[in-house]
Amino acid sequence: MVAATVPVSGESSSHELLKAHAHVWNMIYNFINSMSIKCAIDLNIPDIIHNHGNPITLSELTQSLKISSSKAPYVHRLMRILTHSGFFIKSKIGGIEKTQEEDAYALTPFSNLLLKNHPLSMNPLLSGTLQSIRIEPWLNLGDWFRNDEDLIIRSPFASTHGRDIWEMAGQEQGHNNLFNEAMASDARLVSSLVVENSEELFGGGLNSLVDVGGGTGTMAKAIADSFPGLKCTVLDLPHVVRGLEGTKNVAYVGGDMFKSIPPADAVLLKSILHDWSDEESIEILKKCKESIPSKERGGKVIVIDMVLGDQTEDKEATETQLFSDMLMMVLAKGRERNEKEWAELFFQAGFSEYKIIPMLGLRSVIEVYYS
Ligand SMILES: C[S@@+](CC[C@H](N)C(=O)[O-])C[C@H]1O[C@@H](n2cnc3c(N)ncnc32)[C@H](O)[C@@H]1O
Repeated sequence: MVAATVPVSGESSSHELLKAHAHVWNMIYNFINSMSIKCAIDLNIPDIIHNHGNPITLSELTQSLKISSSKAPYVHRLMRILTHSGFFIKSKIGGIEKTQEEDAYALTPFSNLLLKNHPLSMNPLLSGTLQSIRIEPWLNLGDWFRNDEDLIIRSPFASTHGRDIWEMAGQEQGHNNLFNEAMASDARLVSSLVVENSEELFGGGLNSLVDVGGGTGTMAKAIADSFPGLKCTVLDLPHVVRGLEGTKNVAYVGGDMFKSIPPADAVLLKSILHDWSDEESIEILKKCKESIPSKERGGKVIVIDMVLGDQTEDKEATETQLFSDMLMMVLAKGRERNEKEWAELFFQAGFSEYKIIPMLGLRSVIEVYYS
């Protein structure tokens, strides 16, 4: 057995070692933040605080939770970590005597976004993301890198579950619903912001638009409501659009974007290309190009996705983009791209021009044209 030599040869090096140790500790335990939020949602804590109307004391909160009384003494520990991560604010309320004061919790802008009835609730995204079928592939990621499996590389998700995420959605209604609802919750946020700036994007003579991979149509319906003269079509896999009723200017088409895309003045690709490899994305873009007219005749593709590297000033935003890049690799063989990588995709698919509009925080709108 070889004893490890610990390089502690002075105050500064032991300080550095302990700092490094603490950092690695923090990284290893990072998942505890996500799991604690998930637990708070499972227990309905944000809604209980919201319905209470003002800061709720720990004892009131504990009484309102549908938990075993033997677990009551543990609640403050969950609330402590979630207060630390900014999901709740703690104050003291209670009697006139300081000794009668009790900790009380209120919501923050983060936990507000986890209320069930918030119009932009992120609960569906949380439930869709933090479920065991989505987490399991991460536990197998090292094996995935090592395995010399196929000529066609499968995602870690597909290697773990024997089918890709879209196949699973087609075969399991529960998974299909969770996925579609998670995407719809994101589309509610994006459509509310995009439609605000919509004249430039969807005005200016567009008569028709196809939302390719448009899910259950949240985005298309919001655009169609703002532009009653615009004929919108949602193209998605048959199991996603089955049974959905169109409106006066929204129609659903079940199909495969790799095979054909209905003709239109504009194609919208929101959160689509990041699901696919470069080769597959070029195929999709080529199909889009076939279905729209040239720039001069009013045609364009509107991509909504991240542009990596545009958030360098903001460490948390950059980290979230990199998380998303890893997530796309693990779930769907996809990736996030920087501007140069986007430009290569567009030009290889036969487009001649693009314009990035960084109007969506972590994501951008990219208009793509050919002449
Ligand atoms: C990440 S979701 C994006 C949904 C929607 N655009 C949004 O952002 O809310 C990807 C969508 O692509 C759809 N999809 C996957 N493969 C497809 C295919 N071959 N043809 C059409 N749609 C497909 C999925 O069913 C899913 O709805």
